[in-house]
Amino acid sequence: MTAATKRLFIKTYGCQMNVYDSERMKDVLAPLGYTSTDTPDDADLVLLNPCHIREKATEKVFSELGQLKRLKAKSGGNMLLGVTGCVAQAEGEEIMRRQPAVDLVLGPQAYHKLPEMIARVHRAAGERLETEFEVEEKFDALPLDRQVDGPTAFLSVQEGCDKFCSFCVVPYTRGAEFSRNVDAIVAEARLLIRKGVREINLLGQNVNAYHGTAPGLEGGDDWTLGQLIRHLAKIDGLDRIRFTTSHPRDMDDDLIEAFGDTEKLMPYLHLPIQAGSDSILKAMNRGHTAERYIKIIDRLREIRPDVAITSDFIVGFPGERDQDFEDTMALVERIDYAAAYSFKYSRRPGTPAADMFSQVPEEVKDERLQRLQALLRDQQTRFNQSQIGKTIPVLVTGTARNEGQMAGRTPYLQATHFEGGEELAGQIVNVKIEKATLNSVGGKLASMAEAGV
Ligand code: SAH
Ligand code: SF4
Ligand code: F3S
Repeated sequence: MTAATKRLFIKTYGCQMNVYDSERMKDVLAPLGYTSTDTPDDADLVLLNPCHIREKATEKVFSELGQLKRLKAKSGGNMLLGVTGCVAQAEGEEIMRRQPAVDLVLGPQAYHKLPEMIARVHRAAGERLETEFEVEEKFDALPLDRQVDGPTAFLSVQEGCDKFCSFCVVPYTRGAEFSRNVDAIVAEARLLIRKGVREINLLGQNVNAYHGTAPGLEGGDDWTLGQLIRHLAKIDGLDRIRFTTSHPRDMDDDLIEAFGDTEKLMPYLHLPIQAGSDSILKAMNRGHTAERYIKIIDRLREIRPDVAITSDFIVGFPGERDQDFEDTMALVERIDYAAAYSFKYSRRPGTPAADMFSQVPEEVKDERLQRLQALLRDQQTRFNQSQIGKTIPVLVTGTARNEGQMAGRTPYLQATHFEGGEELAGQIVNVKIEKATLNSVGGKLASMAEAGV
């Protein structure tokens, strides 16, 4: 029996884990009759799933809530308003205090409790703030069913972080590292594949710190990410495997070697370094040097020469001198990235770096960010251009913006477009690349590709 249809609008910010969480919230709410809508205007339930990583992201939430409050008043009180995710975890009480229009506040480990919370709001009774850390219970309680959207999907295998980089809120908002067991992951992967998924992106805040149990399998007390990937690669119908985000400290040899011996593992690694100077890396509590990072990349390139490397950078960390920043620029030159995200350091109250002396002036951060981004853009464009003339297998994700064109992704995760019909959606096709810009490559359909390449 399904309840009458209700409309659900979820707005998601932040990392892929948050995108995954929003999808899972939809799955939790589907049995209650909630279907997604793409505007908050006529929604019965509006959930904001914001990110806490930088200051601006958090401030946006309060201004957005102000607008939603007006919409809620117009609905005659029909609309329920909730805040979830890392902001809810970190600032739940503050949100309830500052914005009384909010009906429920739910941390990232409590999504399975959404139906119960909604019932409580309707009864106007009980606690409306839920920020317990019960990650194991959450995964057990989430429905097995998943709605899928196209041939590629996220699958969360690990959550939380024990690293405590001195700038970062994630260990506080997501809690300690936790790995799901192999059985649960395989069951979810098989379900996704049955629903037409061909590419799975394994997610975790520290995905390569994965240590899960694999009941009944060899060495099953403690499996690493490399073992998990090799195991998943045996599943028929799954053609591409990716994982994100990794930490250099957990990049073991077995995982590096998987790029050479596991064909389904795509030649793409997002490995954030944050800075190129060892004294800054130390102050950041990253637990590795620039040299160690370079060694990992060199080894990986020996094994898989075409691998695309991407990263995250923070400029203007407290105490960053000109020379430290030059070390970052030199490291970027040395690695030669396919793409990277870069941010100005943002002070996060409660993290150790927030209280460090010698915060870097805003204009210095601006100038450094511009220089770094110019170099990264240059590298990204050159990486895309290096594909011109090659014929590459592209997983077709859907229609492109231009009429008559389809969109997809290369193994290196480049956005791709080419002339083709809609019947190609969900297929892997060979595209001869003819042009490249900063953000995409374009070409001509050459042939259907073998699965798995
Ligand atoms: N677990 C991942 C990253 C999680 S946060 C890792 O260890 O790499 C994503 C990115 O946000 C980080 O890599 C970092 O570059 C950036 N970030 C985190 N905290 C920040 C802060 N206080 N100011 C600016 N950028 C930050
Ligand atoms: Fe944050 Fe560092 Fe953990 Fe990444 S490893 S989530 S940057 S504390
Ligand atoms: Fe943001 Fe939380 Fe992800 S703070 S980056 S949404 S883990």
